[in-house]
Amino acid sequence: MKVMVTGGAGFIGSHVADALVRAGDRVIVVDDLSTGFRANLNPGAEFIECDIRDPRAADLVREERPDAICHHAAQMSVPRSLKEPMLDVDVNVRASLQLALEAAETGARFLFASTGGALYGDADVLPTPESYPAWPVSPYGAGKLAFEHYLHALRLSLGLDYVVLRYGNVFGPRQNPHGEAGVVAIFCRALVSGSYCAITGDGRQTRDYIYVDDVVAACLAALRGAPSGSHYNVGTGRQTSVNEIFELIVDALGSTAKPVHVAARPGEQKTSALDSRRISTELGWRPRASLRDGLLATAQWFRAEAGQEAHLTPA
Ligand SMILES: NC(=O)c1ccc[n+]([C@@H]2O[C@H](COP(=O)([O-])OP(=O)(O)OC[C@H]3O[C@@H](n4cnc5c(N)ncnc54)[C@H](O)[C@@H]3O)[C@@H](O)[C@H]2O)c1
Repeated sequence: MKVMVTGGAGFIGSHVADALVRAGDRVIVVDDLSTGFRANLNPGAEFIECDIRDPRAADLVREERPDAICHHAAQMSVPRSLKEPMLDVDVNVRASLQLALEAAETGARFLFASTGGALYGDADVLPTPESYPAWPVSPYGAGKLAFEHYLHALRLSLGLDYVVLRYGNVFGPRQNPHGEAGVVAIFCRALVSGSYCAITGDGRQTRDYIYVDDVVAACLAALRGAPSGSHYNVGTGRQTSVNEIFELIVDALGSTAKPVHVAARPGEQKTSALDSRRISTELGWRPRASLRDGLLATAQWFRAEAGQEAHLTPA
């Protein structure tokens, strides 16, 4: 299979590219390196540096004619989507739509990396199933949901073959610890560099933390086996608080650090957990990594990287 992985120099996309290369697929990574790193690129994949907003990105799909596009390139910061909503919609909706239209035209399967937490918000059903009414509270979530609707419309109007995966809070090696990245990467980075960890509010806000290897397994299963038009949650179904995450990482690193509690963010989501029974039933996918083991592997990676700084300095 020939697969174009957009965002393949980033955290999740690079792990997906690695797994595809390992499986013997031909991989083309398209990334503008805005938050991704050259160090993440798989040497067995072809790399094309390109902003997906550039019309050249559509030309690439037409020229390369991949069997599938695994779309992970995105403006992925919720706070940035609040500060720059036009940029968010430009990358996450308009440029993504350009790629999906080319996928429809060339017959490529289109896998879209969406989000669970930012779609469902503070849901009153936990874990939250895909059928829960999604009313995102951030431009980021609104853009992801809007693009899911575009995919549905393109399937009906143009025969687009697509699959949507709504991820929980993904963590693991290579997550960018800068900006508003996941709390796991931020804590690991702070602890290995002797800095402090700030917990907003009382730290009892929960998320569904899913290890990146499990997300990659879901991607591969969906690419190869999901019926067209499927939307799947990809999470563990379990809520873990920021306080618990901090304690587990401190444990993994053998640290004695204490967190600093800072003011709660206004409007911060309180809870999140995804019901992933649909993907389990239909594709046989299940999360395999325990939270403790995933955090240990992640903490060890950050410790090893601290010497090299390849991923830890801003791009
Ligand atoms: N990390 C999570 O917890 C999480 C949760 C839900 C959904 N997602 C989604 O998964 C995808 C990957 O996220 P990630 O955590 O790996 O983020 P990341 O920032 O590490 O990866 C995104 C990649 O896309 C590239 N990129 C950004 N804008 C681009 C553009 N205009 N043109 C070309 N390349 C561009 C970046 O350089 C980077 O390599 C995103 O779509 C994100 O919204 C992530």
